[in-house]
Amino acid sequence: MKEISIESKLFIFDNLEALPEQVYKLMLKAVEARKKAYAPYSQFHVGAALLLDNGEIILGNNQENASYPSGLCAERTAIYYAGAQFPEAKILQMAISAGSLKKETTVPIPPCGACRQAIAEYEIKQKTPIEIYFMGHFGKVVKSNSLENLLPLMFNKEAL
Ligand code: THU
Repeated sequence: MKEISIESKLFIFDNLEALPEQVYKLMLKAVEARKKAYAPYSQFHVGAALLLDNGEIILGNNQENASYPSGLCAERTAIYYAGAQFPEAKILQMAISAGSLKKETTVPIPPCGACRQAIAEYEIKQKTPIEIYFMGHFGKVVKSNSLENLLPLMFNKEAL
């Protein structure tokens, strides 16, 4: 038996204003998208904004359903739209803003496991890393230089 460790490097910004200007603007778009989420059941709103290499910005938010599992997270709403509309474009950055309507969310909210798997698919497809930034309503912003940092030991097409 051998023990191994896996290291993930993340970067923490103290607040939204500490982000580089262009990412700051992208995060504001994610906030805008978050405010339009359809989440009457959880009251938890999430917005995602993607910057593509063709200059397009794609927005997504969570879409819930009375049949709960039929809903979709913000990140996948955005990334599937990008994949559908701009299949040749590379995704450079994803900004995520999330929070509950019931309380102020001051901790960064990372994408769920299913979204990480979905984002991984596009990172592998485009062969270049996607920078990911995530935050709550306020407070610190976490940056990952690549989805890979957020999903060690990911399942990928090599296994098929
Ligand atoms: N949600 C997202 O949109 N993204 C995530 O990464 C985590 C969860 C949504 C799904 C559901 O509408 C609500 O947040 C509560 O789970």
